[in-house]
Amino acid sequence: MHDGMQTSIHLEIAQRLQPKTCVEIGTYYGGITYKLSKALPDCQFFAVQAYKDDKLNHMPDTIRGEYSQGVANKLKSEGLDPDLKNQDWKRAVAQHFPPEYHDYFDFNLLVDTFQDCDNVTIILDTSPFKWQFPKVDLTIFDLSPLLEENIIQYNYWKDVSKNVLMGAYNHQQEFYEYAGGEKIRKDYVLL
Ligand SMILES: C[S@@+](CC[C@H](N)C(=O)[O-])C[C@H]1O[C@@H](n2cnc3c(N)ncnc32)[C@H](O)[C@@H]1O
Repeated sequence: MHDGMQTSIHLEIAQRLQPKTCVEIGTYYGGITYKLSKALPDCQFFAVQAYKDDKLNHMPDTIRGEYSQGVANKLKSEGLDPDLKNQDWKRAVAQHFPPEYHDYFDFNLLVDTFQDCDNVTIILDTSPFKWQFPKVDLTIFDLSPLLEENIIQYNYWKDVSKNVLMGAYNHQQEFYEYAGGEKIRKDYVLL
């Protein structure tokens, strides 16, 4: 297990809403869902991760995957995908995750995360699904730096989920103007 991601907002909202079912879209190595599954043992979690290579975030500098070009850099984010707008996710992984995570995305490590959980189901698929997901209480996103992509995702999950917590990176205001809801700190919107 790694302990690399900021989970306090997700915990705060999940504790406030007390969902019985919760889905996280784009779970990466599952850190957020893992923490939430321990804090809310009576909630069933679904951790969704795309399995197609063009959606995976790889640590080596490669044209494979998504947002996988460039290298982690302490000083400046040289060569990173311009859509990231200098958000150097590789630097965060290099800093907070052990060396076995610093390679091409490894599904075995995702599975490892949940070995001591009994309230997490992993779903390997690309959201929005071509099929109807059953109704859930809460959907959590930390998926994309792009407003357009998060709008597409929201339009699927808003009909499935009582609440949506959207990680809106650097477009919180624009997403809020589109969807309404409640701004949470500086980059989330709760609907
Ligand atoms: C920014 S990372 C998520 C980080 C994670 N929430 C955390 O804090 O550890 C985005 C993840 O979503 C996955 N992903 C991107 N687009 C997706 C989609 N449309 N459906 C499912 N997973 C997707 C990527 O492969 C990546 O693992």
